[in-house]
Amino acid sequence: MTDDSTKKSSGNSTVSRRRLLATAGAAGAAGLAVGAGALAATNSSASPAATPAAGSGDAGARTPLTALGANAHPFHGAHQGGIVEPAQARMLSTAFDLTPGTARPGLASLMKRWSAAAAALAAGRTPPGLSDDGSALDAGPSSLTVTFGFGASVFAKAGLTAQLPAALAPLPAFPEDKLDRRRSDGDLWVQVCADDALVAFHAMRTLQRLAAGAATVRWQMSGFSRSPGATARPRTGRNLMGQIDGTNNPKPTDPTFDARVFVPAKTDPAKTDPAKDQPAWMAGGSYAVFRRIRMLLDPWDLQSTDRQERVIGRHKASGAPLSGGTESTPADLGKLGPDGGLAIPGDAHIRVATPDANQGAAMLRRGYSYHDGFRPDGAPDAGLLFVAFQSDPRTGFVPVQLKLSRADALSVFISHESSGLYAVPGGAADPDGYVGQALLEA
Ligand code: HEM
Repeated sequence: MTDDSTKKSSGNSTVSRRRLLATAGAAGAAGLAVGAGALAATNSSASPAATPAAGSGDAGARTPLTALGANAHPFHGAHQGGIVEPAQARMLSTAFDLTPGTARPGLASLMKRWSAAAAALAAGRTPPGLSDDGSALDAGPSSLTVTFGFGASVFAKAGLTAQLPAALAPLPAFPEDKLDRRRSDGDLWVQVCADDALVAFHAMRTLQRLAAGAATVRWQMSGFSRSPGATARPRTGRNLMGQIDGTNNPKPTDPTFDARVFVPAKTDPAKTDPAKDQPAWMAGGSYAVFRRIRMLLDPWDLQSTDRQERVIGRHKASGAPLSGGTESTPADLGKLGPDGGLAIPGDAHIRVATPDANQGAAMLRRGYSYHDGFRPDGAPDAGLLFVAFQSDPRTGFVPVQLKLSRADALSVFISHESSGLYAVPGGAADPDGYVGQALLEA
């Protein structure tokens, strides 16, 4: 867990949306003050007796919310939410395009409306300016986070070309990309994550309604992750190939974490300034790479477990590297197996992707699984909504994906189908401010 909850001002003291306080009682209200780290601990201890039986309807005003529903991440802070928090169970990712005629003032007005709504929703309050559609009535914030990003195309439309970050240069065409441009890119990117599907829907629907007249939906995708409490103890999640995924992510406790994930504030114009070609308005921000990666699960499921493990370089059941140890043991890339060959094969995914082999290139992967039914040939339309945050995609995602696309044993089992790159500004630290203010009011 991150110390995010301590960095951000809570704003939870006036929680009034839905029947939250009416039903939460002392336990629920306390839950609102905790962060996601506590969620993992509290989830499994939520008393079944406190939860209404399925189908029991309104179980009465004194039924407390579970810790899961009451858990909240404050919207305001130095960084936007939805980056460092542990992945919630549900994710909606939506790209919007500005409507013709929407320029900088219209975009600023939209970001104000969106930020105010996201702040209210994250705290469990009714968003201002709209009648509530009721789809999340009775639920607590359920760890809701909303993350806003700007695509490269929005800068010209909003008259902000001079503010376009060099780091937002189009991603190169990678070998084997099969991108559907209608489901790629977009002027604006909105990521909603929550531990409850109705809460996530309500938030995204609210934002879409608030965009009326200013922006329309270009594409939307829905993802899911493991629900908190589904395992006996908190553990790294699995993807649809059955692998433990996320083990070797940068950790918020790593001394290099912030430098890898967030754009630093400008220090001085000297060449050594790591933010030298980053615009000042991106301080505290990050860059999100979004890729819809379909998994070719039929051929994958025909592989032996041994072969599957050699493709990734880790044991499927435990997540331990093939060089030995447990999930958290660092991979020993030089170790030889009993046959004299490399224990972790030369084309194993973790060997090709590791920062050690990519000039330290690192990113925070925060992807979700998706399953959109079955294709005409019967194959699952399923895979990974890959989301990676980094301080600079030119030294993060790009070199790693260039290498993976040529040398990764996993490549024959996946297909990159859509792509987006977004500048995710820093958070709105001031409760009266909004995301993107430093850009739009520069
Ligand atoms: C469907 C596609 C993908 C699957 C199923 C997948 C799966 C995995 C798995 C199971 C691991 C090992 C556990 C872990 O450390 O998280 C891993 C590690 C990693 N993956 Fe992927 N991955 C995919 C795509 C990508 C892409 C597109 C990138 C970046 C361009 C990437 C970058 C990494 C990195 C940097 C690591 C950590 C390597 C290390 O230092 O050990 N992956 N991936």
